Amino acid sequence: MAGASPMVVAEDLTRHYRVARKEETLLGTLRHFLRRQYQVVRAVEGVSFRIHPGEVVGFLGPNGAGKTTTLKMLTGLVHPTRGKALVAGHVPGGGKRPSSGRSPWSWATSSSSSGTSPPWTPSA
Ligand SMILES: Nc1ncnc2c1ncn2[C@@H]1O[C@H](COP(=O)(O)OP(=O)(O)OP(=O)(O)O)[C@@H](O)[C@H]1O
Ligand SMILES: [Mg+2]
Repeated sequence: MAGASPMVVAEDLTRHYRVARKEETLLGTLRHFLRRQYQVVRAVEGVSFRIHPGEVVGFLGPNGAGKTTTLKMLTGLVHPTRGKALVAGHVPGGGKRPSSGRSPWSWATSSSSSGTSPPWTPSA
């Protein structure tokens, strides 16, 4: 729909997971307890797109490309490591973040806010 605000916006959406690395041996298990080593899995790296009302889109990619993780961020099941998402005028997950205190996303749940104006304006 020409001129309409986007229904879904992803800007630089990124999700990294820190996972423990463990060898499948008895020694590896012992090392795992004594000196745990981690690696970063880059599940999604810098994904940006916007979908306008009425648009029909596909979401394709090879296994492990990050499709499910992207959808989890768009539905609020997973918080982005970096970047922003906006779905139907709302920050997925209600703007709550794991850390306590007010966050830059608090406009989404604040009663003084209209709930429709995000702190950033997606360009059409
Ligand atoms: N909770 C998690 N902890 C650690 N790594 C994860 C986690 N979830 C996903 N990953 C990793 O992130 C990458 C992207 O996974 P994702 O499931 O989003 O891909 P996908 O495109 O949906 O794959 P598929 O087509 O197989 O469903 C993969 O390397 C996956 O192993
Ligand atoms: Mg998947």
